[in-house]
Amino acid sequence: MKIELYKLIAFFYIIFFIIIFNVYAGIIESRELSPSQPINYSHRIHVHELGLECSFCHENVEKSATTLPPPVSLCMSCHEAVKTESPEIKKLTKYYESGEPVPWIKVHKFKDWVYFSHKRHIKAGIDCSFCHGEVKAMDVVRKVRSMRMGFCVKCHEIYKAPKECNICHK
Ligand code: HEC
Ligand code: HEC
Ligand code: HEC
Ligand code: HEC
Ligand code: HEC
Repeated sequence: MKIELYKLIAFFYIIFFIIIFNVYAGIIESRELSPSQPINYSHRIHVHELGLECSFCHENVEKSATTLPPPVSLCMSCHEAVKTESPEIKKLTKYYESGEPVPWIKVHKFKDWVYFSHKRHIKAGIDCSFCHGEVKAMDVVRKVRSMRMGFCVKCHEIYKAPKECNICHK
C-alpha cells in the first residue's frame, strides 16, 4: 500500500494551523484576563506589604452601582513624597499635574444588559475574595472567576437570593 504524500502533507498542514490558532487564542485570552495597565501598580505592595484596606481606594464600590477607580490625588497623597524618582511615579505625577485620570483598563466588564451592584453583596457579608480571588497577593489584577451567569445564579440559589431574570437583566 502506498501512502499518498499529498494527504500526509495536508494532514500536517491542518495540525499546524490548529496549533497556531490555539497559541494565538491563548495569548488573546490571557490579555483579556489581565490587561497590561498604563501604570505598573501592584496590589501586593499596597495591600499586603503596606496594609491598606480595600475600601481606602475602592470606597465607592460599596456605596454606588457605578464605580470609579481611585483618583490620582489619592495616590499622590503618598507619592508626592514616596518613590518620586521612580519612572512609574513620574508617569503618575504627569497625570496628576495635567488633571487627567489614569486610563486604567478594566479587568471586569459586563455588557450593559447585565446589572450588578456591589452594595447588597457586601452588606450580605460576602468577601471580596469570593469573587475576585486573593487580590492582595497580585502584582497585576486578573480575573479569577468566569462571572458567567451560572456562577451568579448558583450562589443565589444557595443564599436564597432572587433569581428572576429581571434582577440581573434590565
Ligand atoms: C499610603 C501611601 C500610598 C498610597 C495611598 C499609594 N502608594 Fe504607591 N507606594 C507606596 C509605597 C510606600 C511604595 C513603595 C514600596 C517599596 O518599594 O518599598 C509604593 C510603590 C508604588 C509603585 C512602585 C514604584 C516603583 O517603581 O517601585 C507604584 C507604581 C505605585 N506605588 C503606584 C500607586 C498608585 C497608582 C496609587 C494610587 C492608586 C498609589 N501608589 C497609592 C505608598 C502609597
Ligand atoms: C492604594 C489603592 C488600592 C487599594 C488599597 C486596593 N486597590 Fe484595587 N485597584 C486599585 C487601582 C489603581 C486599580 C486599577 C488598576 C488595576 O487594575 O490594577 C485597582 C483595580 C482593582 C480591581 C480590578 C477592577 C477592574 O478593572 O475590574 C479589583 C477587583 C480590585 N482592585 C480589588 C481590590 C481589593 C479586593 C482590594 C483589597 C484587598 C483592593 N483592590 C485594594 C487601587 C487599589
Ligand atoms: C458577588 C461577587 C463580587 C463581590 C463579593 C465583590 N465583587 Fe467586585 N466586581 C464583581 C463584578 C461582577 C464586577 C464587574 C461589574 C461590571 O462589570 O459591571 C466587579 C467589579 C469590581 C471593580 C471594578 C469596578 C469598575 O466599575 O471598574 C472593583 C474595583 C471591585 N469589583 C472591587 C471589589 C471590592 C473591593 C470588593 C470587596 C469589598 C468586591 N469587589 C466584591 C463582583 C464582586
Ligand atoms: C457569594 C454568593 C453570590 C454571588 C457569587 C453572587 N450573588 Fe448576587 N446576591 C447574593 C445575595 C446573598 C443577594 C441578596 C442580598 C440581599 O438580600 O440584600 C444578592 C443580590 C443580588 C442582586 C439584587 C440586589 C441588588 O443589588 O440590586 C443582584 C442584581 C445580584 N445579586 C446580581 C448578581 C450577579 C450579576 C452576580 C454574578 C456576577 C452575582 N449576583 C453573584 C449572593 C451572591
Ligand atoms: C443573578 C444574576 C442573573 C440572573 C438571575 C439571570 N442572569 Fe442571565 N446572565 C447573567 C450574567 C452575569 C450573564 C453573563 C454576561 C457575560 O458573560 O458578560 C448572563 C447571560 C445571559 C444570557 C446570554 C447567554 C449567556 O449565557 O452568556 C442570556 C440569554 C441570559 N443571561 C438569560 C437569562 C434568563 C432568561 C434569566 C431568567 C431565567 C436569567 N438570564 C437570569 C446573570 C443573571
